[in-house]
Amino acid sequence: MILSIESSCDDSAIAITDIKTKKLIFHKKISQEVEHSVYGGVVPELAARLHAEALPNILEECEIYFKDLKAVAVTSTPGLAVTLVEGVTMAKAISVALDIPLISVNHLVGHIYSLFIDKETNFPLTVLLVSGGHTQVMEVKGLEDIKTVARSMDDSFGESFDKVAKMMGLGYPGGPLIEKLAKHGDRKKFNFTIPLSQSPLIAFSYSGLKNAVRLAIEKSNKDDYKDIAASFEHIASAHLIQKLKKYFKTVKPSTFAIVGGASANLYLRSQIKKLLEAYKAPLILSELKYCSDNAAMIGRVAVEMYEKQIFESLETLDISARSKL
Ligand code: KG4
Ligand code: ZN
Repeated sequence: MILSIESSCDDSAIAITDIKTKKLIFHKKISQEVEHSVYGGVVPELAARLHAEALPNILEECEIYFKDLKAVAVTSTPGLAVTLVEGVTMAKAISVALDIPLISVNHLVGHIYSLFIDKETNFPLTVLLVSGGHTQVMEVKGLEDIKTVARSMDDSFGESFDKVAKMMGLGYPGGPLIEKLAKHGDRKKFNFTIPLSQSPLIAFSYSGLKNAVRLAIEKSNKDDYKDIAASFEHIASAHLIQKLKKYFKTVKPSTFAIVGGASANLYLRSQIKKLLEAYKAPLILSELKYCSDNAAMIGRVAVEMYEKQIFESLETLDISARSKL
């Protein structure tokens, strides 16, 4: 079995995955959403302190599996430096104490493998990753063949939901709150401009839309918030659809996947499903509970890395806030 640890942002999680069957044996996650909500976003130092409390508590529950562990895996990039280090320090200690190899997992690869928890992998895939930290399209042929073909130039899709929710005083994380509010709103009421619609670039941008929403909020009263939320959600999704359409002109999708925390958004899912119908491309998704950050997806990547003997030494395993993907 492999023990995997995730602490890249505001979720402390540990999983145990069976190497042979790829089955998830144990998974526990402690989210810090309530603690960060009052601040309208993640406070890194508070997050680090909460990881330092939560991770040892979860680890205690895993002690019965220690004798069966063949490796320990941990998210090492990308994320908040002060929180990544909590997981990495714990992983190093386990590696030394149990004399087992260390596996260093990229969080974004983890999100891709959230599609295959308890399952065999199935490539090639075109993957849209929409999370709090990233918005990118990747062509994935396997563990070591991942090519990013489009990314955000500024804010990410999820982050823009968080910021709009903060402007409305709704709390954190903003995605589910905006989605709920938008359900009762008019998507056409506010005519926000689709970002980069005149640009030939296949890239994303959410900072302009965020500012347009800020102006609309300033000029409106609370009764308009549901219409602003619905119009924002519509344009934020339309931006992704427009750029994907452009990309599909040169690279037709075979199987398409959406991963990351914001892949839970039902409006986005329905819009992408509609787009893919024209290409007869199937859409695959992670189970809802594995869309947001978790350790099960890190464990699933680690199984593949263990089979290829991709290990990291105690001396070289380091954290990095930015991913090379
Ligand atoms: O993958 P994730 O848990 O963490 C990162 O790796 O960043 O994604 C969290 C992000 C947050 O920005 C959150 O607001 C967003 O995903 N999110 C959503 C929804 N649920 C979560 N965004 C839009 N609609 C949702 N239903
Ligand atoms: Zn994530």
